[in-house]
Amino acid sequence: MTEENVRPAGDQDAVRLYGEEFNERPLELYQRLRREYGPVVPVLLEGDFPAWFVIGYRELKHVASNPDLFARDTRRWNAWDTVPEDWPLMPYVAWSPAMWMTEGAEHQRRAGAVSDALDAIDRTELAILSEEVTDGLIDGFAGDGEADLLDRYADPIPPLVFARLLGLPEAEVPALIKDIADSAGSDENAIPAFQRLNERLRTLVEHKKVYKGPDISSRMLAHPAGLTVDEVVHDIVLLLAAAHLPTSNWIGNTLRLMLVDERFAMTLQGGRGSVAQALNQVLWEDTPQQNVIGRFAAHACELGGHTIRAGEMVVMGYSAANADPQVRPISPGHGADNRAHLSFGHGEHGCPFPVPELAEIIAKTSVEVLLDRLPDVELSVKPDELEWVPSLWIRRLAALPVAFTPAGSRRGA
Ligand code: HEM
Repeated sequence: MTEENVRPAGDQDAVRLYGEEFNERPLELYQRLRREYGPVVPVLLEGDFPAWFVIGYRELKHVASNPDLFARDTRRWNAWDTVPEDWPLMPYVAWSPAMWMTEGAEHQRRAGAVSDALDAIDRTELAILSEEVTDGLIDGFAGDGEADLLDRYADPIPPLVFARLLGLPEAEVPALIKDIADSAGSDENAIPAFQRLNERLRTLVEHKKVYKGPDISSRMLAHPAGLTVDEVVHDIVLLLAAAHLPTSNWIGNTLRLMLVDERFAMTLQGGRGSVAQALNQVLWEDTPQQNVIGRFAAHACELGGHTIRAGEMVVMGYSAANADPQVRPISPGHGADNRAHLSFGHGEHGCPFPVPELAEIIAKTSVEVLLDRLPDVELSVKPDELEWVPSLWIRRLAALPVAFTPAGSRRGA
């Protein structure tokens, strides 16, 4: 490696990874970065905090496969002394006692219990539960002839499904959903809502310690890993949060694709066959988690021709890595059956087994039920009027307004 390649993150060569350009045309910008910098880019995050942005498929897999070197605990970051408490990216880096920030044997203990508790979910029962939830939501707007499919459909699906899987009493679900939505906001309601969410789930876990049931919470408590009540509470809060936006955005982005793209046309004849392909295509083109913070170098190392120092931050560029010409299916549409994308992450800290399979059952059922119930659904704006939320981190529409022939309620049928 030449001296010239050694560009500490944060020097004058670093690219500002924020601002309008990035928010509005991320895919074009990833291409430019790849041309100008290669697979690993020195960047400045909001507030000009330096980091390394990994956009090469092979390099990203290398980072994700080496958790001892590229570690997950955010307390390793070497910039903490300078970060203000109101830094906009704080929610992504603030340390939490949940399992995703644990490392090594401790992570294996916690993640193993999560995976086993999720793997016990009967896949057919999950499809039936997803059908019940989605039918119930459609009943709420089917008679109106119009709806925003994000607000009325894609957004509430994951928390409704997970509340049932966790064993939460039906009567508490509306308040839980409100707290999840409020805690994801950035106003003064966010912290109290997050505290209420934690308290509600703590009460649930304490109840399940005595009255076990066929649910994720009870299975985590009974797991041989010997999790404490605190650990189970932290990890089910994480499950709810990690399931919410990625799954609802996967559903929303797939519905958008099927409404705007003839290859995945939403017809009763053509729609069914293409739902699985549309879901997979979205993971290549509009993956819900574009970029993730991150990993922190445990010690100095080389990556993509750069020297990374101990404690430096690495941003996982999942969306850009999927577009790496080394792996990218040649033309749009040809990726429909190819599952080599990195949209669920990779390695020890990737989306845990068997979540991708479970999330796909929920997402696929959601799209299919909508097609069955509202077969003539169509966009009520022009495709190019749909707006993406300006974010480098999530890929999400601001709204998905549709129109359809008013239909009856299935429950009332
Ligand atoms: C059923 C819904 C879901 C649940 C419960 C869930 C849960 C989780 C959890 C707990 C982690 C942290 C794993 C760890 O650090 O050990 C994780 C990571 C991840 N998940 Fe999911 N997830 C869900 C859906 C999705 C979806 C739909 C996507 C995208 C298509 C996704 C993409 C990811 C990615 C990229 C990571 C790795 C983040 C990183 O690099 O740090 N997840 N997920």
